[in-house]
Amino acid sequence: MSKKSMAVYPGSYDPLTNGHIDIIQRGLKIFDKIIVAVLKNPAKTYLFDLDERVRMLRAVFKEQDKIEIDHFEGLLVDYVKRRNITTIVRGLRAISDFEIEFQMALMNRKIEPRIETIFFVPSESYSFLSSKLVKEVYMLGGEVRSMVPLLVDRKLKKKFRRG
Ligand code: PNS
Repeated sequence: MSKKSMAVYPGSYDPLTNGHIDIIQRGLKIFDKIIVAVLKNPAKTYLFDLDERVRMLRAVFKEQDKIEIDHFEGLLVDYVKRRNITTIVRGLRAISDFEIEFQMALMNRKIEPRIETIFFVPSESYSFLSSKLVKEVYMLGGEVRSMVPLLVDRKLKKKFRRG
């Protein structure tokens, strides 16, 4: 039996957006399985805590056995090594992403040369989309329904007691 190819798609997912989903779907064209790894950074304040972020992802991707939801703390490369995986997936939306993604990929390679980072370019309709902007638009009274899964929209409504 051939060995399954797997990659880790790390992120904050605060919250999950349709842009993330687009990247996961593209990743699954190349890999048999994508592990969506949610970061818990104790130094950072999140809108949704780790448990909420993980639950949302698990609900959105339930019954999709090619997508696993996990979480990690500390160095990404340590987590990837622990999982016995050698590929990290990230999305590149625009040139503005490039510098930071380039730095992270090179730093991760410096720490662990066996791990490669592969970038996927999302649909141009998501090139403007980020969790940060989704939160900002929502907090300021805008609608984000077309940018996030229904469940995330509902959780945002609940969080801000709207609707
Ligand atoms: O969704 P984000 O916030 O753009 O994801 C950033 C993430 C989680 C990929 C990055 O912050 C990360 O890998 N953090 C873990 C800590 C780490 O390994 N730092 C060194 C990487 S250069």
